Amino acid sequence: RKILVLHGPNLNLLGVREPQHYGADTLADINARLVEIGAQQGALVETFQSNREYELIDRIHAALSDGTGFIVINPAAFTHTSVALRDALAGVKIPFVEVHLSNVHARESFRHHSYFSDLAIGVICGLGAKGYEYALAHALEALNPTP
Ligand code: DQA
Repeated sequence: RKILVLHGPNLNLLGVREPQHYGADTLADINARLVEIGAQQGALVETFQSNREYELIDRIHAALSDGTGFIVINPAAFTHTSVALRDALAGVKIPFVEVHLSNVHARESFRHHSYFSDLAIGVICGLGAKGYEYALAHALEALNPTP
């Protein structure tokens, strides 16, 4: 049972960057919690952040053959721009949940459109870093349904 957590551009600056939108947790804090929660439930959680579109695309392609059963992704600004990242997720057909720390619908109108939401199993936004944990809870349940 492997779950891949992907973070898009600028999320390496979490904790420093616009805390009014994104909270005080660093990406390392968030990732450590997700790995820990996964381990408690016998699942391997792997995390990856990149500021480069092609690296995220390549990581999604690699997920096809590395046992990944579910993806949690915050595409960050690529949410609103990247047909290529969308196509990568459509191509591998691995189910995914889209996460945003901030409520993108309460912000600038250019953040209201996502290239991912119609392909996603679900979308979580506005719940801060907890949103990743809710998405992970869903992934764990999806990979190991309770009867
Ligand atoms: C974000 C929202 C995006 O609009 C923005 O470009 C980000 C982060 C979020 O987590 O709230 O970088 O995905």
